[in-house]
Amino acid sequence: MAEHCNLYDRAMYYDVIFNRDVSAEVKFVRDVYKKYANAEVHSVLDVACGPGYHARAMARTGTQAYGLDLRAEMLRFADDQATKEGTQVTWLEADMRSFKLPKPVDVAFCMFDGLDCLLTNDNLIKHFQAVAANLQPGGLYLVDLSHPVEVSFSHYKKFHYSAQRDGVQVDIYWATNDPHYDLATGIAHVALELHVDDHGKKLVVKDEADERLMFPQEISLLADLSKSLKVVGWYGDFNIDQPLDHSPQSKRMIGVLQKVG
Ligand SMILES: C[S@@+](CC[C@H](N)C(=O)[O-])C[C@H]1O[C@@H](n2cnc3c(N)ncnc32)[C@H](O)[C@@H]1O
Repeated sequence: MAEHCNLYDRAMYYDVIFNRDVSAEVKFVRDVYKKYANAEVHSVLDVACGPGYHARAMARTGTQAYGLDLRAEMLRFADDQATKEGTQVTWLEADMRSFKLPKPVDVAFCMFDGLDCLLTNDNLIKHFQAVAANLQPGGLYLVDLSHPVEVSFSHYKKFHYSAQRDGVQVDIYWATNDPHYDLATGIAHVALELHVDDHGKKLVVKDEADERLMFPQEISLLADLSKSLKVVGWYGDFNIDQPLDHSPQSKRMIGVLQKVG
């Protein structure tokens, strides 16, 4: 989802659209950890957490949870929600390429295309090293990215998200500029429009950002180059029985990486 700052600075409007039930995601994190580490999850890090849906959901079941994001506005919103729910999450305002948790965690995850704001191979390697340094031995890192059916070199799907809550109507028109990925860099310049009707007060915000297209083999090689993580599995949905493939059931591209050494 890249660095769309004008959108991410408006956390409440982001939440009207993207607030969702993440129970399948949370179950998947636990199932994957059971499969590859043969243990129960006791601590997690939600990387590029935004409103912290996954960190909060994990914390609700008693798991120690950290949520990390670059944007103070997102973390303020996440913290307000956690306080209202009575859940305990530790929030960190930090860059995902360089950070230090008070204690290493069992599992880190980066959901909903959070990874695509890292545009260069160097940034991705730095990020993998930072994550691995904050994982327990044998710990896992899950990366959730769009399936190539939706975004690839030959096409970039336009998305229209629309939702209403408590008198606030929010629409996001994604990819208003018909973007395409540059063949040499794998980067697309993507424009979007956020339209808000907040109790009659209307607002239109335009935003643009670069995002990187990544494929499994590339992520696998970059992980190897980081000398800190290794890809151990690919999945097509938040379901341990769904491989990444071309079937209609394969909707996301989810990589599971494990700390080495
Ligand atoms: C797609 S949004 C949030 C996704 C959220 N995990 C979800 O499931 O809805 C991506 C988030 O990445 C954050 N972000 C962008 N660049 C970052 C960086 N370098 N380090 C940490 N967070 C970053 C943005 O502030 C934004 O909140």
